[in-house]
Amino acid sequence: MLNRFSPLTVAYHILKNRLVVPPMASQNADTQGFATQASIDHYANLAQSGAGLVMVEYSFVHKSGRSETNQLGADRDEHIEGMTRIANVIHTAGAKAGFQLTHCGGKARLDICPDLMGPSGITVPAYDRLPKPKAMSLDDMLMWKESFIAAANRVAKAGFDFVELHCAHGYGLNQVLSPVTNQRTDSYGGSLENRTRLIVEIIEAIKADTDLGIMVRIPGQDLYPEGLSQEDMTQVSKWLIEAGVNIIDVSSGIGGWNRPKDRRGEGYLVPESSYLKKQNLNIPIIGVGGIESVDYMETALAENALDLIAVGRAILKDPREFQRSFLLAFPHHRT
Ligand SMILES: Cc1cc2nc3c(=O)[nH]c(=O)nc-3n(C[C@H](O)[C@H](O)[C@H](O)COP(=O)(O)O)c2cc1C
Repeated sequence: MLNRFSPLTVAYHILKNRLVVPPMASQNADTQGFATQASIDHYANLAQSGAGLVMVEYSFVHKSGRSETNQLGADRDEHIEGMTRIANVIHTAGAKAGFQLTHCGGKARLDICPDLMGPSGITVPAYDRLPKPKAMSLDDMLMWKESFIAAANRVAKAGFDFVELHCAHGYGLNQVLSPVTNQRTDSYGGSLENRTRLIVEIIEAIKADTDLGIMVRIPGQDLYPEGLSQEDMTQVSKWLIEAGVNIIDVSSGIGGWNRPKDRRGEGYLVPESSYLKKQNLNIPIIGVGGIESVDYMETALAENALDLIAVGRAILKDPREFQRSFLLAFPHHRT
């Protein structure tokens, strides 16, 4: 019987259960993006949740893509040592380790990211008032591509099992995917296929260069007028799977990761993973959003709304305490 303790084999790795710690910015790095002792301790602590997969927070692939002062970086070979220490503490706890890569594009403050740029120079309509980014040249697009590929190679050298491209929450690759922010007229803009091209090319190169399992964090939809729809994201998912993606992590889009006003209760974004599950993509799918209870997890698995369950803030509060409630009360009510 499928339940939260069922192992899952994916990309030659065995996840020991269905629990995932999603990427969560800890702002523990130094101002150059190097992991500090606090970063290492933070991930050693999160791994005490007992999750089968622990993701490391969004980390910038190029200095033009930084969105926070103490953000972790993966843009220089010198970062590999600290990244390795993080992978090691996660592995020591018996979990697989994943690392999320990002470029903020036009979603940052100018004092942190003076080179603010977006695919078409369109301000990202997020919750905060954001400045107008410069419109990216074709060279800028290629620079992003090379930066993501180089950073993924560092992730592999550091000993991680998975790399995740952050294509959600209004950050750079979400801006490239979304018709709201990408109105380019070259091969990286216009049609949905063109807007997916950059991510496809990055995935193909990572697949060729490394043995990493490849994850994408995508919006189930943009949750923004004129933005990406669930139908769009079904098609995008098919292209990304063809390119080599192993796990799809479904979250929200251009408006950020917070709970949308009209969503209530546990699993507020699980309708997004559930929609993709119904499209028979034949790939493990992660669902997320306010999940706290084992009852909710078991119901979501039984209803085939997701394959893997991401629990963020409930784990962040107290990973050990969370593990106690995760292990407790094996459900008897389902056969
Ligand atoms: C402090 C904090 C930092 C976050 N940082 C990231 C991040 O780096 N990358 C990302 O994709 N999502 C990030 N998120 C979103 C979480 O991964 C998750 O999707 C969200 O918190 C909803 O799950 P939850 O309700 O279980 O916390 C962050 C959330 C929090 C609370």
